Amino acid sequence: MALSLRASALLSLPLITLLAACAGTPPTVASAPAEAPAEVRADAPGERWTPREAEIIAAFPERKATHSLDPAMEARIAQIVAGMTLEQKVGQMTQAEIRSITPDQVRQYYIGSILNGGGAWPGMKKHASLADWTNLADAYARAALATDMAVKVPLIWGTDAVHGHNNVVGATMFPHNIGLGAANDADLVERIGRTTAKQVRATGISWAFAPAVSVVEDQRWGRAYEGYSSDPAVVAKLGGALVRGLQGQLTGDGDVAASVKHFIGDGGTWQGVDQGENRSSPAKLAAVHAAGYYAALDAGSATVMISYNSWAPGGTEPLGKLHGNRALITGVLKQKLNFDGLVVSDWNAIEQVTGCERDHCPQAINAGIDLFMVPDNWKTFIERTVADVREGRVAMARIDDAVTRILRVKFRTGLFDKPVSAGRYTGDATALVDRPLAQEAVRKSAVLLKNDAAALPLAPGKRLLVVGQSANSFPDQAGGWSITWQGDETDNRDYPVGETLLDGLRRVYGAENVTFSADGSAFARDKFDAVVLVLGETPHAEMKGDVRWPTPLAHALQYPQQAALLGKVSGRGVPVVSVLYSGRTVYASDLINRSDAFVAAFLPGTEAGALADLLAARGDLDFKGRLPFAWPKTACPTTGEPAGEALFAPGFGLTYRAPRAIGKLVETAIPAACP
Ligand code: GLC
Repeated sequence: MALSLRASALLSLPLITLLAACAGTPPTVASAPAEAPAEVRADAPGERWTPREAEIIAAFPERKATHSLDPAMEARIAQIVAGMTLEQKVGQMTQAEIRSITPDQVRQYYIGSILNGGGAWPGMKKHASLADWTNLADAYARAALATDMAVKVPLIWGTDAVHGHNNVVGATMFPHNIGLGAANDADLVERIGRTTAKQVRATGISWAFAPAVSVVEDQRWGRAYEGYSSDPAVVAKLGGALVRGLQGQLTGDGDVAASVKHFIGDGGTWQGVDQGENRSSPAKLAAVHAAGYYAALDAGSATVMISYNSWAPGGTEPLGKLHGNRALITGVLKQKLNFDGLVVSDWNAIEQVTGCERDHCPQAINAGIDLFMVPDNWKTFIERTVADVREGRVAMARIDDAVTRILRVKFRTGLFDKPVSAGRYTGDATALVDRPLAQEAVRKSAVLLKNDAAALPLAPGKRLLVVGQSANSFPDQAGGWSITWQGDETDNRDYPVGETLLDGLRRVYGAENVTFSADGSAFARDKFDAVVLVLGETPHAEMKGDVRWPTPLAHALQYPQQAALLGKVSGRGVPVVSVLYSGRTVYASDLINRSDAFVAAFLPGTEAGALADLLAARGDLDFKGRLPFAWPKTACPTTGEPAGEALFAPGFGLTYRAPRAIGKLVETAIPAACP
């Protein structure tokens, strides 16, 4: 973006000075730090918890704060808040979506944050250039600094960079969390976080809505692949690593604010229903579903996003939607876990709180949420919330606490010191790509489930028939949250950087030795030494990926077609190596039985071609991936992790070095509907 000479000269000044200059008043250095204000508690003085709320809060171990507030920063924040009108404060608490707000409206309504939802790009151009991203970020950033506020407050833009900067055509996308859980390598995840932060900063954005620290209990959940594991300790380890990677020292360059999500219990809903009911006891919620938050807050996560799910301990105590639960948000997260950053709601989630609408929810404000993701209805949200304060439904102390937290995150993220346009990585196209790192992650995340006849490794020079459209499909290997929200409405033209498994096999074995026949019709016994069959599932995100009871878990895979494809090549005298792309573990015993080798590759991202090196054991490569979730032995596992019905337990994974036959698996019928 071209800056005018004056502006560029000004930009060299610390922003706070710039702001004063813009306001025409002489820059004032923050006065000697006044006594830092006592943290404004969300619960007004004198409020008490009910006995049940106190019991719930008591179930969560206290987390000692890992840092103290910066008195000078707190004094500056208090000074700014004191000078803000109610409309300006509520504007700060509002997060609008780029498709529904212009830069000038950001200025006019004192908007504190914007986001781009999955599938929203600058100008709604799927192939928006890096300059389109940075120009839009700069336009919004400047608009926020052009308000008539006494002290201008910079905007913060959040984006779902959940496996790399998956919104941007040309950016490297890493394996989804299910694959990283299989790799179970904290150093790798931290390095992915570092790269993701630079990718996000390259577009002028400074906040990533990641990591999800969902402890996934049921593979029917459409977001199972956003979870690292069913083991809370693994989730905590990797979630903390991603926060450290994303935030670094949170100095503003190459670092972004993280948003650990979704608090709390998103991965434990009954039958895996997305946004459904978590029936854990308080003790289980604390021991299992809170694990990732302790680690992420210890790693300094600047923000926390609240979950859509409801909570009904034992299924008999309906405590309602999380977005209205003050005991958990304020009592547990803010007080017991000593979280001093900002709490953000999920997309229109406040409308699910009893008595609320998508643009009005005093209950959620009083529960302790600070920033409201009201993508479209931001104007009436501001109007109705201002009225809530004026009419006493929300205390000004709660508003001031929320704004204080928002400003604290903006200071910590470097936004007051440096406008986005001056960031070291802003507009740097090289920051969007890190193929070696993604290839390493792909190779570490694949799990070998079967290799009874040592069909693998496939020696160089083998003549291969590659079957299955997923072998040559970036959308299938990337999964949901890739270019678009659902990972749909895209094709290979939207992935200029990366490698499909077909590309990788051609690279490793030579194009002359690799024949691609998506439907398997080219099969001929004497022409090929092995078949590589790539099975996949339709990319999906959130509720669209749910396998709702009584649908069999196998049907996540477009099962009939996949089984038919395998039937064309299996048992015909040529070894079949099956590679499965899936966002979950899934019943596949008959597919495994009809394969000589079977690899669970989960959702490898843009560098699926790296699997070819593993299939060839190039450079003595071996499988390192171990199942992050149990692998079901029936198509109708009862709800919850099918551990008791597991074909393979979490942690299972074969290697070349320690071959082990799994033999013929017991196949169960796949009913049209589970009984
Ligand atoms: C979605 C998701 C959340 C995401 C947010 C913004 O509904 O639940 O993970 O960060 O909206 O896209």
